Parts: sequence; C-alpha cells; structure tokens
Amino acid sequence: MKEIYRGKAKTLYEGEDGTCVMVFRDELTAGDGAKRAEKAGKGSINAEISAVFMQLLEKNGIKTHFISFEPPDRHVVKRLRILPVEVIVRNIATGSLVRRYPFKEGTRLEPPVVEFCLKSDEYHDPMVNEDIALALGLVDTPEELQEMRRISLKVNRVLSDFLREKGILLVDFKLEFGYDDEGNLLVGDEISPDTCRFWDADTGEVMDKDRFRRDMGSVIEYYREVKRRVCG
Ligand code: TMP
Ligand code: ASP
Repeated sequence: MKEIYRGKAKTLYEGEDGTCVMVFRDELTAGDGAKRAEKAGKGSINAEISAVFMQLLEKNGIKTHFISFEPPDRHVVKRLRILPVEVIVRNIATGSLVRRYPFKEGTRLEPPVVEFCLKSDEYHDPMVNEDIALALGLVDTPEELQEMRRISLKVNRVLSDFLREKGILLVDFKLEFGYDDEGNLLVGDEISPDTCRFWDADTGEVMDKDRFRRDMGSVIEYYREVKRRVCG
C-alpha cells in the first residue's frame, strides 16, 4: 500500500476506490512527541475501541470517516481533507485546563467546555479563537467552527451516555474533523484512550493515556480494561 501520511501513532495508506487505510501502531507519545514508548498490543486495542465509538456515532446520526474495521489494527476510512484544528470537549477540569486557568482539579464543567486548538506540535497545539482560526485560514467561515462545536457537543452526549453504562466517566476528549469529496464535514481520526480521558466511575482510577504521560504504570492493562468494557 502507498503511504500517504505517517503520524505519531497511526499511518495512513491509500486504499481502494478513493478510501484510505488507517493503521494503528503500538507507539505512544506525550508532550508533543517529546516522550515516546512502544506498548505491544496498543494499536489493536485502540483500533477496536475506536471502531465501536465510530459506529456508535454513526448510529446516532453523526457522520464520520469510518467505513469498516479490519482486525486487528486497521480501519478503512473515507479520504478527508483534514482541518488543522483539534476540538477538545471537557466535562471535568483537569490536564492543561487546570495548568492554564484557575480551575480546581476535578470540578464538573456544566455546560461542557469546548476549545479549538491549532494542530501543531511545533507550537504545542495552542488554543485559537474565531479570529485567529480565520486569520490563519484553518477554516474559511465562522460557521464551520460553530458546526464543529455543535457536532462535538453531540458526540459528548452520545459517548458520555454510552460510557456511563460501562462504569466509565468521560472526562474530556479530542476530535478532528475533515471534509469528504462531497463537502460533508465528518468526524475523522480516532476516539480511544490515546485521545480521551476516562476515569473509572466508582474508583476514579485513570484508564487512559495519562497513565503514560504521568508515569503511572500499567498503561496497557488499563487500555485493555477499557476495551473489555466498551467492546464487550
Ligand atoms: P489537555 O488537558 O492536555 O489539553 O488534553 C485534553 C484532551 O485532549 C485529553 O483527553 C487528551 C486530548 N488530547 C489529544 O488527544 N491530543 C493532543 O495533542 C492533546 C494536547 C490533547
Ligand atoms: N498528542 C501529543 C503527543 O502525543 C500530546 C498528548 O496527547 O499528550 O505528543
């Protein structure tokens, strides 16, 4: 397969009939690539979890790039023009939010907080407002940001409800969006313990990439537990 793009954790290849094949690798990075490791099995675990989430979104009327899951570690997806924007939705204050603003760790955010960030390791994914997003040409119109915000909040409701049933609290997550050839705005990339914060609803235990970021250990064991609960 012809490689189109190699990111920090996934590689994108050209697929058949205008599709792409997204391969989830075992590498983990944090701090915009400053810290790296390889955890055997991580790629396939994330591919399986993300497939369940993407199908759940589709079932709830949210359009995504997902076409099919090819076990163990790949998704066939629609080819998108990905926007260089990361949309973060937060239900609980933690992570960079409490480092940057005077929020108390663990505070419930109601309504949820949405942030748009520039996708750039070099600039450490800085938050952008509407003016900066337009001036940088990340999007062409303010309506595109509004549309991403609307879809992201719907994703938050769907995922939060689903995960609550599995005893998992959706603390926050990151989405990426892109346009398909027909000009539809779709959810792209992945939704996994690499891109979300998950806390055990009873114990508050961290079940996501923070275990790696913060050297908490048992990274793969917790990813596997998320998979067990989400994928049944
Ligand atoms: P943050 O608290 O570090 O800003 O992260 C917020 C959420 O976004 C968290 O669930 C992790 C996710 N995230 C990514 O998936 N990729 C990134 O590059 C960053 C900075 C955050
Ligand atoms: N995505 C960034 C990295 O992998 C930052 C993070 O998720 O912590 O380096």
